[in-house]
Amino acid sequence: MYSDLAVFSGRAHPELARAICARLGRPLGRCDVFEFANENIFVQYQENIRAQDVYIVQPFSSPVNTSILELLIMIDAARRASAGRVTAVIPYYAYGRSDKKDQPRVPITARLIANMLETAGVDRILTMNLHAGQIQGFFNIPLDELNALYTVAAYFRTKDLHDYTVVATDVGGEKRARDLAVKLDLPLAIIDKRRIGNTETTEAMHVIGEVEGRNCLILDDEISTAGTIVSAATALRHHGARDIVVSCYHPILSGPAVERLKALDVKELVVTDSVPIPADKLLDNTTVLSIAPLLGDAIGRIHSGQSVGALFQ
Ligand code: R5P
Repeated sequence: MYSDLAVFSGRAHPELARAICARLGRPLGRCDVFEFANENIFVQYQENIRAQDVYIVQPFSSPVNTSILELLIMIDAARRASAGRVTAVIPYYAYGRSDKKDQPRVPITARLIANMLETAGVDRILTMNLHAGQIQGFFNIPLDELNALYTVAAYFRTKDLHDYTVVATDVGGEKRARDLAVKLDLPLAIIDKRRIGNTETTEAMHVIGEVEGRNCLILDDEISTAGTIVSAATALRHHGARDIVVSCYHPILSGPAVERLKALDVKELVVTDSVPIPADKLLDNTTVLSIAPLLGDAIGRIHSGQSVGALFQ
């Protein structure tokens, strides 16, 4: 249906794009992306992409708003270069928390970005662990949402998890944590977390489940300021938990996150490379699991018209 497959990268995470290409056994496509002195972004594909099946890798990582706009411009350039099909590969979709009008006079930014991507001319989306599954429905085009659960579970299966309980940081994350608990055959506990207004401040209230004298594996979708993790760990220790291991799919690590995590006595922090982690934010106890094989295999399957769901069976 489409001629060759071509993978390109914006400036957000070229290392991940290169690792995806290595998995696919093909070179990363050449594309110039830079900013003029006036901060206007320029994009030019340096090879022919006419009729090709084009994949643009760009998580919405810091600087978030630039990453989003850059992807939109790359999609526009690909469309105007007569690409056969354009897929945006967005391992981390920012603004996921802005997915409903839950207060007066607020936007639904996750939906706005979906509209902008479609207006730019993207044909498909390949993403991973959205903050809320409903965001899939903001798109009127095909979207594949991958799940790093399998990558994370495979890693933890190599560990001795004797006496561990998987912990969800809030009620909304219960299913995510339960899926991991089931895969690892471990019990589950849930923190009753409340966010204080629109601030980054969270307060852990109660722990639902048995954690006294047990080791805890806290799972969250993302760590932004690490406020949630600190509250969760504090509540767990207060309830008599022993060792604490933390895992998340998207290590955003913004603002005070690194200092907070340093101060927190956690045994290990296990994350994926859905977003780049600058060297100064990489703590000694951090294990980074690559999702490049998952994304590479999904791209290969989408290109050849095979099932993506079969990856998870
Ligand atoms: C919230 O609903 C999410 O699942 C995460 O718990 C949250 O985004 C983490 O943010 P922070 O690290 O700033 O507490």
